[in-house]
Amino acid sequence: MKNRVVFFDTTLRDGEQAPGFSMTVDQKIAMAKQLERLGADVLEAGFPIASEGDFESVRRISQELRGCAIAGLARTKKEDIDRAWEALKHAKRPRIHTFLATSDIHLKHKLKKSREEALETAVQWVRYAKSLTEDVQFSAEDATRSDFVFLAQIVEAVIDAGATVVNIPDTVGYAVPDEFGQLIRTLRETVPNITKAVLAVHCHNDLGLAVANSIAALQNGARQVECTVNGIGERAGNASLEEIAMILHTRHERLKLTSGIAHAEIYRSSQLLSNLTGVYVQRNKAIVGSNAFAHEAGIHQDGVLKNPLTYEIMTPVSVGIPESVLVLGKHSGRHALSKRFSEMGCRLSREELDRVYTAFTRLADKKKEVYDADLMMLLQQETPETSAAYVLEGVQVLSGTQLIPTATVRLRRSGETEENSSTGDGPVDAVCRAIDRITGFPARMTEYTLNAVTKGKDAMGEVLLQIEYRKRIYTGRAASTDVIEASARAYLHAVNQAVFHHERSATEKR
Ligand code: KIV
Ligand code: ZN
Repeated sequence: MKNRVVFFDTTLRDGEQAPGFSMTVDQKIAMAKQLERLGADVLEAGFPIASEGDFESVRRISQELRGCAIAGLARTKKEDIDRAWEALKHAKRPRIHTFLATSDIHLKHKLKKSREEALETAVQWVRYAKSLTEDVQFSAEDATRSDFVFLAQIVEAVIDAGATVVNIPDTVGYAVPDEFGQLIRTLRETVPNITKAVLAVHCHNDLGLAVANSIAALQNGARQVECTVNGIGERAGNASLEEIAMILHTRHERLKLTSGIAHAEIYRSSQLLSNLTGVYVQRNKAIVGSNAFAHEAGIHQDGVLKNPLTYEIMTPVSVGIPESVLVLGKHSGRHALSKRFSEMGCRLSREELDRVYTAFTRLADKKKEVYDADLMMLLQQETPETSAAYVLEGVQVLSGTQLIPTATVRLRRSGETEENSSTGDGPVDAVCRAIDRITGFPARMTEYTLNAVTKGKDAMGEVLLQIEYRKRIYTGRAASTDVIEASARAYLHAVNQAVFHHERSATEKR
């Protein structure tokens, strides 16, 4: 059996469908390009029938990326498969990924189908997908809670119908590693035609076992692993790509498995996703969290100084964490700025560079040293996702112990500028209310946190917040040396996503 593991990245599908992680089409394309640089073998670009936005992302990613295979998700239904194919047909290596639940609990309560009907449906639509393209993946949703004999029967039948990849998802994150490994091994030993397809796994993290289960499956013969950057995904998320990749690399002597992942692109991919979605990576997240390589205890620091191998099983540099984070000061020029962004994996257009440079000089005037984290913040703020987004032109606040907090805000959208004022319970509340008056989106703020991006009294204050609008959560993130400005920008970042979604669904209904 080959030792090369296929990495199937579903950041843009399973990851993106989780609350707070939605991305615009342009953001998905930026992420897809980075995933290609990261070395993902297959990119699941979306679920084309789910919305116009998903269709458009899969279509554009199929046209613009030529390196990896592109997959589009479809239920076992003609309209889903046709829509997926329509979006995928220009890809260099298209893959239709169709799925049907196989557990009795899903069959009885969700699909209202007998096992026989499910088997027939799966075979019929795998065959149909195969008539459109060579590469067809079938997923047996909720496989780990399915009757084994029935699961084995459906796996055999879809391979006979032409499936090139058969995926065994632990959809609800229920399995434990030895049990899941055993399931994969038994499928390999009992399904007669199993070698005609690649056996894949897709694990959710409800019990914190997604990565452990994925590794157990690979040790027992699965050769495609489905995962996401930063482990994002439905509920507690999917198996984290960076963790699996670094386990295969760091423990190669034991697992003897290889991958095409470019490890040095891991940190950049993680940061890009966090910047695009406005969601922090938890500090203690393995591989990419800000504490992952920080040694605080004296004994540890002493050991690492004497020899890094005492407490480090891999180096930060190996996953692309820049060695020195201190970069620029107020005398740095446009060229240095552009070079630093490109070292961080962000290729800026001339126009973007102009905007970011102006903001950089303003910041460098206020702050002696500008760090990578500061630069990423500037980039996010100065390159709004869509030309239709609201841009903050100015904010002014009157506040104090004897004053009613009052804010005046000026926003620009599609070339038009509008100004409005409001009072509030505090200065941040007044700013948000003034923004609501202009946008007409009375969102409810559900979370607000303020942190220092870098060190020192002149550090930028970073605001991360969530708003709720029509039962959806949107996340906003921004930083500035002025925390009121950071709050206004973060709020606007979230509101822009709400506006985008609202306008997109209005177009879809037409
Ligand atoms: O979790 C799951 O079962 C899925 C399938 C669509 C593969 O996401
Ligand atoms: Zn899933």
